[in-house]
Amino acid sequence: MSAQDDIKRLTAPDIRARKRGTPIVSLTAYHAHTARLVDKYCDIILVGDSLGMVMHGFETTVPVTLDMMILQGHAVMRGSQRALVVIDMPFGSYEQSKEQAFASCARVLKETGCGAIKLEGGRHMAETIAFLTARGVPVMGHVGLTPQSINTIGSFRAQGRDEADWGPIEADAKAVAEAGAFALVIEAVAEPLGRRITEQVAIPTIGIGASAACDGQILVLEDMLGLSPRVPKFVRRYGQLGPGIEAAIAAYADDVRSRAFPAPEHTYPMRKKDQ
Ligand code: KIV
Repeated sequence: MSAQDDIKRLTAPDIRARKRGTPIVSLTAYHAHTARLVDKYCDIILVGDSLGMVMHGFETTVPVTLDMMILQGHAVMRGSQRALVVIDMPFGSYEQSKEQAFASCARVLKETGCGAIKLEGGRHMAETIAFLTARGVPVMGHVGLTPQSINTIGSFRAQGRDEADWGPIEADAKAVAEAGAFALVIEAVAEPLGRRITEQVAIPTIGIGASAACDGQILVLEDMLGLSPRVPKFVRRYGQLGPGIEAAIAAYADDVRSRAFPAPEHTYPMRKKDQ
């Protein structure tokens, strides 16, 4: 048995048990190479449908397909060993009926080997969440700002900015928790609301622009690395990789154009079998 085989992957019940425990560290990843890095530090890797905007340059997550999520989910599973990999269900793959949701989720779990799925929505998704969890699909919920609803909500503005608007969001969070989700993403809500929901629900809350009081936090990797051209106001940038990458590409282009490119034998160590 190799050392790799000894690493046990976290499960949805492991994450569920972290309510009010050590904060849950989560980031998104869409590729094997970033998953490898993130896996060392994170409890959850989310293959978010944000990949539509980050990787593919779409304006919203609405055009993302199930096949895109499955392809990138495979890559992240290959790149990681320890973190629970959660894959987002894209718009149109689960809302029509609980049966449609089960068929789509079953494809994701079977074809990628991931440990859980995430879907957006509150009270109106509760019946589907209960149906899925009763049939072996671990579900992470997502309330507050739900980007797949962009065409009905009109903008990516924070939700529940006025106390008068908190009730429906709290009701959504409670409905998702009571339906059997193992964790709940709360996106872009007023800080006191994020804190209140965290106190009220029995499952771990994972905040993104919600509250430091949440049981864990998540960010889009490219946003916190300084690789995304536009980021929400709440994102703290932990790196500025965009300018560094551009400088490296510019130096490469200069080398190629000035024929200062190193000879091939200096660039790659020869593999034994090629010698
Ligand atoms: O798609 C995504 O990356 C997400 C996170 C922002 C939570 O849903």
